[in-house]
Amino acid sequence: MADADGMNTGAVALGDDALLATAPSLRLDGRVAWVTGASRGLGRSLACALAGAGAEVVVSARDGDALRGLAEEIRVGGGTAHAMPGSVSSEADVERAVSTIGDRLGRLDVLVNNAGISPAFTRSEKVPVGQWREILDVNLTGAFLCAGHAAELLGEDAGGAIVNVSSIHSVSAHERLAAYGASKAGLESLTRTLAIEWAPRGIRVNAVSPGYIETEMSSGLREHEHWSQTLLDRIPMRRFGRTQEIAPAVLFLASDAASYLTGATLFVDGGWTAR
Ligand SMILES: NC(=O)c1ccc[n+]([C@@H]2O[C@H](COP(=O)([O-])OP(=O)(O)OC[C@H]3O[C@@H](n4cnc5c(N)ncnc54)[C@H](OP(=O)(O)O)[C@@H]3O)[C@@H](O)[C@H]2O)c1
Repeated sequence: MADADGMNTGAVALGDDALLATAPSLRLDGRVAWVTGASRGLGRSLACALAGAGAEVVVSARDGDALRGLAEEIRVGGGTAHAMPGSVSSEADVERAVSTIGDRLGRLDVLVNNAGISPAFTRSEKVPVGQWREILDVNLTGAFLCAGHAAELLGEDAGGAIVNVSSIHSVSAHERLAAYGASKAGLESLTRTLAIEWAPRGIRVNAVSPGYIETEMSSGLREHEHWSQTLLDRIPMRRFGRTQEIAPAVLFLASDAASYLTGATLFVDGGWTAR
């Protein structure tokens, strides 16, 4: 839109149907989305949000009963979902999941690497190496395996999107969370490397880094008098987040609305990393 001097003001003309018609959509109708770690917590919420946006959802984790219950709930709610039990740290399970998706559904458009664990809140010198390895195995190697095996299916058709669920502790260190922080820093590095490697294949790779969210994983700290207050004092918004507050960021990165976005991390953390 030009002003009286013919300068471009950058304003959108009201009623400009051509522009309004190209407003990007967060809908995922006709797409297949695979969410790992979907038996509870954030993954469960993300699976429901993706199904609500029209995607056919594949949910995986180790607890098959919880997955089947979730798939049924999504179906009752009018969506489409399939339970595929397995561990992200088992390459055989990951391979089986990807080949089943390919054989049965014929496509994969979105992978959400959400499965994660944080079993230790321990000073670094006291963390047994077995526990260190287990955390890296699930949080980092699990995402590497799922992305690697899914890449071929994701690269077919018009290309796909990977959203890795990271954490504020990828960039903001926290005492007693050495392995967890290292795994998430690694996951964000992997996000950027895959983004540049797979851009020519039409696969976008991004991450969402939540702050403290109300799930089972964070319950030990949230319910602890000292640590709960310490965390709340650090969060500018002075509250913990809810799972539904992470889903919109994941939906955005998974959708065509983010078509020119790859290798990025969105922090959804009540302001934690703004400090
Ligand atoms: N809650 C937070 O404050 C917070 C903050 C930042 C980031 N995150 C990240 O968000 C993600 C989800 O965490 P959450 O808070 O929802 O935790 P959660 O409630 O403990 O759920 C973790 C999920 O991961 C699954 N999982 C664990 N190990 C697995 C494996 N080997 N293979 C497949 N699935 C596995 C669990 O299912 P099964 O036990 O059935 O396998 C469960 O569905 C994690 O990556 C976490 O690091 C959480």
